[in-house]
Amino acid sequence: GSGEGGVEFRDVSFTYPGAEEPVLRNISFKARKGETVAIIGSTGSGKTSVLNLIPRFYDVAEGEVLVDGIDVRRYSQHALRAKLGYVSQRAVLFSGTVSGNVAYGGSAAPGSDAEEGVRRAVAIAQGTDFVERMEGQYEGRIAQGGDNVSGGQKQRLSIARAVYRQPDIYLFDDSFSALDYRTDRELRAALRRETGGATTIIVAQRIGTIKDADRILVLEDGRIVGSGTHEELLQDCETYQEIALS
Ligand code: CTP
Ligand code: MG
Repeated sequence: GSGEGGVEFRDVSFTYPGAEEPVLRNISFKARKGETVAIIGSTGSGKTSVLNLIPRFYDVAEGEVLVDGIDVRRYSQHALRAKLGYVSQRAVLFSGTVSGNVAYGGSAAPGSDAEEGVRRAVAIAQGTDFVERMEGQYEGRIAQGGDNVSGGQKQRLSIARAVYRQPDIYLFDDSFSALDYRTDRELRAALRRETGGATTIIVAQRIGTIKDADRILVLEDGRIVGSGTHEELLQDCETYQEIALS
């Protein structure tokens, strides 16, 4: 079932407030504890919309979204978000230090346990090399919007921010898109190794990022048009074949 650490969608349809047409139709899937479920599909197919329903950025009118087997509407905002490590499609950094960004405004003074946590999170996110090359390292300055770091570095710091919180469930919205293949692979391997048993939902545009997921959902116009492993989908999902061959 979708017990501890699980996510489940039960026949979810969703329309944005004020919109006429639903963006998601009859979405059902399960990510059990420790599994990696990937969502792939063309731009506008509804991938971000699926993820947004889990932390309740929006509420569904039809169907149910469950976390640990419980309808998300029954959690307090705080209790729900404490379980989730959400990395948004656009990495958001604020003006401050590397540590402050990873600990999300929390204090991570040099020598504290929090600083140890920041180092560990940055290491898992494959950011140690560039952070340690920065002037000031973990106390180095990040400009407003992260304008002084590259796109891939921004992504790694925003992933580190999620890792730092040690969530039960990771939600990655295209969070690896600016990483080269090797960093992408190593980061995901480190996450699996170091976050023992966390459930992961990965939205991605490239096959390499999701190939080894336990299950891949293929979205098209807000519907799931295929679900299975990479091999299964290559056999029997036309939309997936098109993505894989493009
Ligand atoms: N949409 C909307 N209102 C929003 C966000 C999105 O009406 N606040 C619409 C978009 O215009 C789109 C559909 O919902 O038609 C799905 O959007 P989204 O879930 O963001 O699609 P993704 O698959 O995430 O697209 P991308 O790969 O470009 O991120
Ligand atoms: Mg998106």
